[in-house]
Amino acid sequence: MKSIELRGLTHIYSKGTPFEKTAIDGLDLTIRAGETVALIGHTGSGKSTLISHLNALLKPDAGTVLLDGRDIFASKAAIRAARFRVGVVFQYPEYQLFEETVFADIAYGPKNLKLSQQEIDRRVRQAAAFVGLAENTFDRSPLELSGGQKRRAAIAGVLAMEPGLLVLDEPTAGLDPAGREDLLERLFIWRRATDAAILLVTHDMSIANRCDRLVVMSEGQIVLDGTPEEVFAHGDELVSIGLDLPAAAHIARLLRQQGVQVPQGIYTVDQLADAILALRGGKGGPAC
Ligand SMILES: Nc1ncnc2c1ncn2[C@@H]1O[C@H](COP(=O)(O)OP(=O)(O)OP(=O)(O)O)[C@@H](O)[C@H]1O
Ligand SMILES: [Mg+2]
Repeated sequence: MKSIELRGLTHIYSKGTPFEKTAIDGLDLTIRAGETVALIGHTGSGKSTLISHLNALLKPDAGTVLLDGRDIFASKAAIRAARFRVGVVFQYPEYQLFEETVFADIAYGPKNLKLSQQEIDRRVRQAAAFVGLAENTFDRSPLELSGGQKRRAAIAGVLAMEPGLLVLDEPTAGLDPAGREDLLERLFIWRRATDAAILLVTHDMSIANRCDRLVVMSEGQIVLDGTPEEVFAHGDELVSIGLDLPAAAHIARLLRQQGVQVPQGIYTVDQLADAILALRGGKGGPAC
């Protein structure tokens, strides 16, 4: 995949009823091969609705989804192609494990692609290795795995499709800090080993700020789109739409409100430490 493009995307739930809700409202977004993009926004801002269009699970009420320039709803074959090229890992994907063995579960997608047994084997082993799932789990029932292992098996099933775009909705929700860190690092390693793009939906700013690009949604629209530095420079706007800031950006904002001259665009602890040390150096004494 070279790019996926949403043009004027609109999605309305329960159209024509008293419950009508415009969840996505004329939204434009392009994601290119090789990007790691975090999609952030408050509850109900439309993130899950947006990602369900990327592999044609939801059909837009207006606008188009272009995969390498072609409308994914143009034909049944185009829809099928989008489902194979765009891998979506929904929230708590472990509840969707249903095969008798872990191996069969991870192999489910590649089998649908009608690949040779040898190629299916290769993909299952490679995907399991990427997510850190040991091969001695392959013959077990998915139900026997721990929560963290189930999550990894479910993600491996999508990686085994070798998608051009991997979309993950809150992939680390409910994991302990070590498990969260390990899974995230593995996803980034997978990204670097392929020419794929990752779109990661998260509420966790410490995850978002490790992506190359942040796309911020509010009320079904994109309100900010840029590098973490660019986006976190809009601290007041983010807070006003109900988002948390990374801890370092939050402290920098509080310091600025107290009149301490720390620069905009700080979002990591190291940047904050440097800014405070620079102030001390600059003024020849403690700044705060
Ligand atoms: N199946 C549905 N029928 C009707 N309204 C829906 C449906 N799914 C979502 N909505 C509404 O559409 C809007 C966007 O919902 P969506 O689930 O896309 O938000 P989200 O950003 O993923 O939220 P969260 O962070 O809680 O996962 C919300 O107002 C939600 O109530
Ligand atoms: Mg959601």
